[in-house]
Amino acid sequence: MQQPSATRYDALSQAFHWITAIAVVIAFILGPEHFGRLMHDGLDPATRSDIVWHESLGLLVMVLTVARLLWVAVRPAAPTFAMAGWMQLTSKVVHGALWVLLLALPATALLALGSEGHPLTLLGGVRVDQMPLIANSGLANLADWGEVHGFLGDAILALAGLHAVAAIYHHVVRKDGVLSSMLPRRG
Ligand code: HEM
Ligand code: HEM
Repeated sequence: MQQPSATRYDALSQAFHWITAIAVVIAFILGPEHFGRLMHDGLDPATRSDIVWHESLGLLVMVLTVARLLWVAVRPAAPTFAMAGWMQLTSKVVHGALWVLLLALPATALLALGSEGHPLTLLGGVRVDQMPLIANSGLANLADWGEVHGFLGDAILALAGLHAVAAIYHHVVRKDGVLSSMLPRRG
């Protein structure tokens, strides 16, 4: 077990963090525009590698986030840094919102596909044409889930940007080791 004085996240937490961050950014860049119209025009999403990669990376984020939350429950204590109460609180709120978005993004995507009857198309030719559990549930007509999903996609990128700027501020201005805590030890 790590000592209470740990200044870095454990290697597994770091790996989860950076793989997830890269997958989220690439998924965001590949976010399919005008998806509803394309489907209406009869496009098979399996023929569009951007859509297939978007959905595969998005589901990878979901699997990583669930595994990561299980790890957070049992891992060595995360490092803590002395800082003003408001800063501590802001960091907790931003982390909480990022965790929620990491789960809400794939959830709203599945709700969008399931309720509209569009197929889920993944790498390796995996496809799920119908999701009757979602289509027949009360959730299906509760919202335009595709729109909610796109909005949450923009939100996670904005929040992750703010979170990254804060990490860089800690490193450059406060020089307090917050950014290094998520980086592998050098040398
Ligand atoms: C990290 C996770 C994800 C992020 C950041 C993300 C981001 C986005 C963004 C920003 C859009 C809107 C694109 C635009 O209108 O320009 C979008 C659309 C879409 N995404 Fe994702 N997404 C993620 C996960 C997923 C997953 C797991 C799936 C499939 C299971 C998925 C399927 C879709 C679909 C079908 C649309 C089109 C929705 C519509 O317009 O009806 N996404 N995504
Ligand atoms: C989509 C991108 C990102 C997401 C979703 C994300 C999410 C998170 C989450 C959930 C945590 C808590 C980790 C834990 O308890 O194991 C965290 C910590 C951290 N992240 Fe990110 N992150 C992203 C990008 C970045 C970037 C680009 C940087 C640096 C430039 C960064 C720097 C850090 C640092 C230094 C910590 C640990 C310090 C702290 O408590 O804030 N993250 N991040």
